This record gives sequence, structure tokens and C-alpha cells, in this order.
Amino acid sequence: MALNGAFSHLVVECADLEKSEAFYRDVIGLDVVGRNLVADNRPNSLLATNTRQRLLLVETGEVPPYPGSGGSIHHAWLLTIEQFKAARDRLEAAGFSSGIDPRQSFRAVGEYNMDIHDPDGNRFQIQAFGEEGTEILRSGAGTVMMGHMDDFAVGSVTHNRKGRFFLVREDEGFLAVSSWCTHKNGLTIWQKESWHFYCPFHGAKYDRKGCYVGHMGCQPMRLHPMQIDALGQVVVDTNRFFGRSGFEAAQAVPAEPGGKFDETGLTELPACDEKEVRERAKTGG
Ligand code: FES
Repeated sequence: MALNGAFSHLVVECADLEKSEAFYRDVIGLDVVGRNLVADNRPNSLLATNTRQRLLLVETGEVPPYPGSGGSIHHAWLLTIEQFKAARDRLEAAGFSSGIDPRQSFRAVGEYNMDIHDPDGNRFQIQAFGEEGTEILRSGAGTVMMGHMDDFAVGSVTHNRKGRFFLVREDEGFLAVSSWCTHKNGLTIWQKESWHFYCPFHGAKYDRKGCYVGHMGCQPMRLHPMQIDALGQVVVDTNRFFGRSGFEAAQAVPAEPGGKFDETGLTELPACDEKEVRERAKTGG
């Protein structure tokens, strides 16, 4: 059953109500609704977001330490890009600059993140997603010559880093699979030992034909048109992208001189230059 609207409230234990209230008011930017408004005999403070959610701080005296395993135990706020920029400026001014996207170079294009801890060590993630997270990015490599078709064994996957694609040799022929993840713009890697493409950004997996395997509902990885020329050389056009709903044998380019890409049943997708989008993302987030 789908949730109706957003969550109502979050209850956070704190050791020092004064200190924590100041953090959530001045650093996170919530409005203080009032003290001791709920039926709890411990001191508490109710704060509000501007989207009608509440945060209740309850002074418990002793707060269990933040899990030593760290990592995934946290709360996350999702902001618009504009709100994210304002929050980043406020956090920097409040001395939280070390948490401002220390992993930036490992994030999907268009994904912005900050990680901060409250006075009791609770971890808060602050996220925003720009529209560039779903734009289709041209690498700038143009037409790429991959070598002779006989150099690629059936079952092989060859990464072309500059062109941001994988050349996959299947029984049916060749596929030039764009390495951009279709979830957000993460870059996938080929995990030979488990026979799948993997996106380290949020964990999406795709089979060797580029079809998504899992529960996130991602589209298959996109295809670049390619051909085998009269001499058997494999040529990939990285400027163009085609979307698909799954794998069909006709998508594979026959492994023979003159083998051509068949667009039937595929949808050509508009693309932007990766360099230009990265530049825009630098100033946008
Ligand atoms: S960008 Fe999210 S899983 Fe790839």
C-alpha cells in the first residue's frame, strides 16, 4: 500500500536538549514549535520543517553511541537544488565544511550530498538531485574504432573508458552498451567474476546484455549504434544512444563484414555533452 503523503514526525533522543535544539534550529534550519508539548515526562522540544513534518527531541540523559559499524544507519533529508545550496552555505558558515560532499568525485553526475552529525553523533544525510542526473551524456569520443571483430571472443566484454561503453560479444553478434547507469548518472563497471555490470553508486546490476536485474525498476543500459566494416573492423558511434525495453536478438550487430545496427523497435534518445553537463553541475549544486 502506498503511503499517503510524507512521514509525520521523527523522534530523536538527545543528551542535552538546549544544545540539540540549537543545532536543529540554527544548523538544520527547523522552526521551534515549543517545549514540552507532548505527553512525556522528560524534557522535550518540538521542531517543524516547512513541509509539515515534525522532529521531536527528547532529553534522555544518555544516548546510545552511534553504531560503531557507521555506514548505513542514518536519517536523510531530500532538498531541491536551491534549498541544498542555501543549506550548504549555512553549514559552511557553521563550521561543517568537512561533511560537505567528501565523496563528490564518486557520486553520480547530478547527485549532491552532505553528511553531518548532530551533537549526539546521529548522522544526517542531506541530498539533492539535479536534472543532469537523468540527462544522457555523450563522452565526446565520437566514432571509436575497436579493432577486428575476430579479436573479440564470444562472451567477452571489452571496456572503452574514453567512449564510456562496453563492447559485448554475444552468440547473436555485438552490442555496444553505454556504461552510464540508467538509474542516475553513475558509471557502471563489468564484474567478470559474477557476470554482470554493477553500478557502485546505488548498487544497480545489469546482465551481460545490459538488462537490469533487481527491484529498482531501472531501464536497460542504452545502446550505441555500431557496424562491422567491409574489412571486419568494429566501429562504434558514441554520439548516438538508443533506449530499449529489454533485449532482442535483433539488437546485436551480426559478426560479419558489413554487419549493421538495426534501429527497429529502439528509440533514439537526445543526448548532451558530458563535459558541458559536468561544468554545469559544478556550479549548479
Ligand atoms: S546511479 Fe544509482 S545505481 Fe547507478
